[in-house]
Amino acid sequence: MSYLEQKELEDTYVMHTFARKPVEFASGKGVRLYDSEGKEYLDFLAGVGCVALGHSNEAVSDAIAAQAHKLIQASNYYYAEGRGQLARDLSALLNTGNEQGAPWKLFFANSGAEANEGAIKLARKYGKLNLNGAGTVLSAKKSFHGRTLITTAATGQEVKQAGFAPMPAGFTHIEPNDIENLVQTIKVKAQDATDQNSPHLAPVAVLLECIQGEGGVCPMSQDYLKEVRALTKEKGMLLIIDEVQTGFYRTGLPFSFMHADIVPDVVTMAKAIANGLPFGAVAATGKAADIFEPGEHGTTFGGNSLQIAAARATLAEFANLDIGVHVQKVGAYFKEQLAQLPLVKEVRGKGLMLGIELQEPCAAQVVSEALERGMVLNYIGDNIVRFLPPLIITQTEIDACLAVLKELLEAR
Ligand SMILES: Cc1ncc(COP(=O)(O)O)c(C=O)c1O
Repeated sequence: MSYLEQKELEDTYVMHTFARKPVEFASGKGVRLYDSEGKEYLDFLAGVGCVALGHSNEAVSDAIAAQAHKLIQASNYYYAEGRGQLARDLSALLNTGNEQGAPWKLFFANSGAEANEGAIKLARKYGKLNLNGAGTVLSAKKSFHGRTLITTAATGQEVKQAGFAPMPAGFTHIEPNDIENLVQTIKVKAQDATDQNSPHLAPVAVLLECIQGEGGVCPMSQDYLKEVRALTKEKGMLLIIDEVQTGFYRTGLPFSFMHADIVPDVVTMAKAIANGLPFGAVAATGKAADIFEPGEHGTTFGGNSLQIAAARATLAEFANLDIGVHVQKVGAYFKEQLAQLPLVKEVRGKGLMLGIELQEPCAAQVVSEALERGMVLNYIGDNIVRFLPPLIITQTEIDACLAVLKELLEAR
């Protein structure tokens, strides 16, 4: 079927929730994607940060194929081969650099939004049990936490909520990187909650991305994260870190909260956990780890045998490749070189989660022109170009991207 026939079919029968770019991808290997006419592309998006080990990674594809022939789904009503080992290994990964830390317990889900939804339910139940019924979750302006109704309400972007009123209650948006704003918000919300006529519940948790991805690659300062950790601990509130985009070495360390040397209570993850297979998880430690009772939360698919096999193979590959060291090295090079490009106002991000803010609102055009030249990039808003390449990307491939960008930006 030709690209045009595919386009017509999709446009007719698939809901228009995405403004698709004019390419039909048919296969991929490593950092390369191939369209249905065989044209090669260098992929600097990695399926929006999912395909961390590159497309069709041998070890992961072999594990998926073998498991698909053995057992895909027997349900969460039973124990599953590998599920305990995966949870144990994720617990160890979450305690990297904090090996004496308490173990983590995992709930397996199917996506980032579902993981965040689970974390928010966990926080509300935690509030009921430990904080006199507190239930409001404080998340940041410009944040992104998913597209379910609850995670849309948590997301600090009105544009994502427009048209879907009424939003579920129980969320307040704080100013990112502003500890005074958080102190005041907690105070005001806690006071409101003592008013018998107030529908507000007191604050129970702070939900944050250490680097806001969809919000424009905007990092939280390490001091801010440390202060948020100290304040939430003092108030008995939970700190939930959304690692859906930043997790699994994207920023050079297993999880981005590790750069600030803090330990959250709850961590959500998805995207790269199984190199592109839909999978996600909520991890909780300390008091937060044993909040749910049987029957209170669940999922049909989450943590099935296929997802477990893919995730275990993915984690093993990360370790075999010592991927964090590679990401730190090539990420630092990429960031430094991006800063040299014409029209670049600012380079933001860490590791291989980078964004350039351009001096002109031309990000969409630059990304379109790059696609024509075989370079898959992404833009956010009018003037931010975002880079989330597979973590196995080499300096030579980064140089190829920089050369195209330089040409396109110089021509403007
Ligand atoms: C930080 C963050 N949280 C949550 C999500 C939602 O994940 P999903 O699309 O898998 O539901 C995303 C997706 O981009 C994200 O970047």
